Amino acid sequence: MENSSSGGGPCSNPNQAGALAIIETVQDDMRVECRTWTLHGGVQKEEHRPRAGSCKFVANALDRTVGARSRAMLFASARSLIRRQPGQPVHPTGVDWLFVFHLFSSSEASILMTSITGWLATAPNQPLQRQTIDAGPLGEEDVEVSVDYCGVCHSDLSMVQNEWGNARYPFIPGHEVIGTVNALGSHAKGLRVGQRVGVGWTNGSCMHCQSCLSGDQHLCAQSVATIVGHNGGFADKLRAHWAWAVPLPEHIDLASAGPLLCGGMTVFKPFLAYHILPTARVGVVGIGGLGHMAVKFAAAWGCEVTAFTSTPAKAREARDFGAHHVVASRDPAALQAIAGSLDLLLVTVNVAMDWKALLGTLAKRGRMHVVGVVPEPIPVPSFVLISGQREVSGSPTGAPVDIARMLAFAARHDIRPQVEHFPMSQANEALARLEAGKARYRIVLDAHA
Ligand SMILES: NC(=O)c1ccc[n+]([C@@H]2O[C@H](COP(=O)([O-])OP(=O)(O)OC[C@H]3O[C@@H](n4cnc5c(N)ncnc54)[C@H](OP(=O)(O)O)[C@@H]3O)[C@@H](O)[C@H]2O)c1
Ligand SMILES: [Zn+2]
Ligand SMILES: [Zn+2]
Repeated sequence: MENSSSGGGPCSNPNQAGALAIIETVQDDMRVECRTWTLHGGVQKEEHRPRAGSCKFVANALDRTVGARSRAMLFASARSLIRRQPGQPVHPTGVDWLFVFHLFSSSEASILMTSITGWLATAPNQPLQRQTIDAGPLGEEDVEVSVDYCGVCHSDLSMVQNEWGNARYPFIPGHEVIGTVNALGSHAKGLRVGQRVGVGWTNGSCMHCQSCLSGDQHLCAQSVATIVGHNGGFADKLRAHWAWAVPLPEHIDLASAGPLLCGGMTVFKPFLAYHILPTARVGVVGIGGLGHMAVKFAAAWGCEVTAFTSTPAKAREARDFGAHHVVASRDPAALQAIAGSLDLLLVTVNVAMDWKALLGTLAKRGRMHVVGVVPEPIPVPSFVLISGQREVSGSPTGAPVDIARMLAFAARHDIRPQVEHFPMSQANEALARLEAGKARYRIVLDAHA
């Protein structure tokens, strides 16, 4: 890098420094000046050089190494990156040439590599297509994460098919990401390049509204979902606000941890939010991705756990996950037999059920908590609520601090989602298997397989 502006050229020593330099050459009548910005450990530093190198040389070298098209992309990113530096005008005399070059020996340099290759949803009921997209410059508060694994949540399927009416095509699904930070925006905090992190459903929040300041960032009205108007983790990289890229505990199994980031968080949150006691009797309706993790969490929490399933073949495994009892979720007689017995009933299904019978399983002061996206309204007779002082509630995922607590709990109790691995290249097959109800119990896409 030292040679970058003195004519030695980026190709003369490919192992040098391993960083990226932006060379801005400014011509001011009599003199030629050059400034470089280099990235070390993902942090941008400005360095002045007394003499400009040969701009033509740099451009040619760049064309040889990354090609003219990539050079144009890097060029555009570098411009906006430089312009975003507070208090640093580009140059009083204006920029005549701006050249960027990139040494491939450094992963840090990827801060300006704006392309992301992933599996795009382009329209409802269309297969995902592998494409490379221009992600633009990295936001100041954002980090870029190289994806290692990504879970496949039912919400990905619902979004791909626009079941909820809020899909913004094209987008890359995937919001149960395990990855490695490869670049930091200039104002990103608390993370370092090379750190292992997880990214879930929420990708960013305003950080200054009442919800955010109360520690409920997941309830922020301006929060950004990872796969709504943003690209997710069925890709080689994704980006997130630094607060939402949550560091992983040291002793966590990376290959199976992805599903904890959305599904796990979602079913863990009620235990925190409602101060569930270890003496509670907890029911889990639907033993799929979320449900099987709920059984594991509830059992580790110390509760007496009842699994409700419509799939008899899941009964034995539900017990292996920690369920003390298994009940057929669509059998009125089975539901009647446990009437009035549960303190918390966690509903993870995404279909209509016999709600009267399910509410009937609640004990006095019991709570039915809905996390599955049930399309139709759920009828709740007032008499059921009033007579036993019962409650019905729902919640989305959790705040970054909840995610960190959930991950620590999972690591301590060795709670691992039961996963099936697919290579990322089989993202379509993975979605089809989930849709067919065949996933046991969560599919994880491997980015490096
Ligand atoms: N609140 C949130 O923030 C949040 C976060 C993540 C996901 N979600 C939502 O939670 C729901 C579940 O997600 P998931 O990833 O766990 O899905 P999943 O793996 O497909 O599991 C859903 C389970 O529901 C049960 N089920 C499906 N069809 C049924 C039917 N006709 N009758 C009875 N039971 C049926 C099945 O369990 P059995 O075979 O045991 O019956 C199935 O395994 C989705 O709606 C998803 O969008 C919400
Ligand atoms: Zn999800
Ligand atoms: Zn906010």
